[in-house]
This record gives sequence, structure tokens and C-alpha cells, in this order.
Amino acid sequence: MPRCLIAGNWKMNGSLKDSQALALAIAKGAQILPKVEVVIIPPFPYLAPLKSSLVDSHVKLGAQNLYLGEKGAFTGEVSGPMLKDVGCHYVLVGHSERRTLFKEDHVLVAEKCKAALEVELIPILCVGESAYERENNQTQTVIASQLEAVIKRVGIKHFNHIVIAYEPIWAIGTGINATQEQADAVHAFIRRYLMQNGVDLAATMRILYGGSMKAENAASLLSMPNVNGGLIGAASLQAESFLKICATAEEAITP
Ligand code: PGA
Repeated sequence: MPRCLIAGNWKMNGSLKDSQALALAIAKGAQILPKVEVVIIPPFPYLAPLKSSLVDSHVKLGAQNLYLGEKGAFTGEVSGPMLKDVGCHYVLVGHSERRTLFKEDHVLVAEKCKAALEVELIPILCVGESAYERENNQTQTVIASQLEAVIKRVGIKHFNHIVIAYEPIWAIGTGINATQEQADAVHAFIRRYLMQNGVDLAATMRILYGGSMKAENAASLLSMPNVNGGLIGAASLQAESFLKICATAEEAITP
């Protein structure tokens, strides 16, 4: 069984003061949850200050985005080495908000995964279908094409170092989560697809679910064999709800 991972994607929310208070509360609450890996993913300006808030805590830091290469004339962008420098372990890649609002295509997403891996940041690669695609039975085709682009550029060998997050677009921020059966079926498909493409550790790769996951539905989603954690948006902005999800994950882990 891969280690369960619960990551809080704060998106573009909070102030420095709020973020520090939230990080401290999460770090404190996570002290009694040693089995689950807890990650917070704040906006860029708060990464460095929050790193200091997390000293002595096993809560890890992730970033919401990165750009390619090490440095250069890319106004407004942040590189993988910079994220490493401020203490990040993880970076989100291919979140649907970036794919849709910022027009990131499959190729750019794959290049970002590669850039992250080159500096030993673990990419959390987000994949998922729209409501229209689900209704038209295109879920598997869409996810396969999102994965294929990354396999092609990153290479099978390195794929084992990636965490995948299945985030159906229709479930993100809507309050409507995928059912445990829907999530498990897609996670199983992702695993199968990766195995068929030669990813030898696909059986133990971590596949997170994201999309309106909250304290109330976490137990049901995390009980599924192919669901190895969660990527949490709205419910990660309050320590209490986020820690409840982490505690549920801790309980779901067999010793
Ligand atoms: P949500 O967001 O939990 O608010 O639906 C999840 C995400 O976008 O990662």
C-alpha cells in the first residue's frame, strides 16, 4: 500500500497572517497523524514564510505551478530550482484551472512535469474530464491522452516519481463529488493504463482524488482500494475541516 497523501490546494486565497495561522494549526494537528503525509500548497509569496512556520513539523510544502528551466527572461514565472530553494517537495502540474484559464496544453503540462522531476520536485499531475466529456463516455479517452503526453516527454522510467490526482472538472468547487465507485473506477483505469504502457510501479503509485472532497465524504472516498489520498481545495482553507480529512486518512491506513 502506498503512503496516503492529503494535500491542501489553497489556490489564490488568504493573507500572510491567515496563512501563517492556518499552517501552524495544521502543523499542530498533524503531530498526532504520523501515518498520513500532509502537504500544504499555498500561493507563491507565502511559501518561504510558511517554511519557517513548518520547522519541526512533518507537514510538507508544495507549490501551485512552475515554469520550465532554471532562470531567464520569463517575467512573472517561477522556476523549479526556486521552489526547491524555499523548501518545496511537491508542485501541482496540469490543474484544470491552469489548463482552462491559462491555456496550458498537454505538451506544456508534460514539459512542466519534466522540469519538476529534473530538480527532484514531485509533480502532482492533475488529470480529469469535463461534465460534457463524461456524459459522452469520453472520460477514459481524455485521461489517456493527458497521461500519454506526459509519458512521452517524461519517459516511463521517471513516471514512477509522479503523484497523480484525478480531478473531474465537474466536481471541482461545485460541491458535487464523484461517488466512491466513480472515483475508484477512474483510478483503476489510470493504473491499468500506466501498467499497459510499461510503468512498472503503477500498482503502487499514489493516485489522489480531488473535487469537492470534504470531511463528510472523505471516509467513503478514501476507503476505496485505488484511492490513495486527496487533493483538497475549499475544505483545506480551514484547519478543522482539513485536519478532519487528514484524520480520516490516518484511520483508513492499516498499520
Ligand atoms: P475543491 O478543489 O476541493 O474546492 O473542489 C479541488 C482542487 O481544485 O484541487
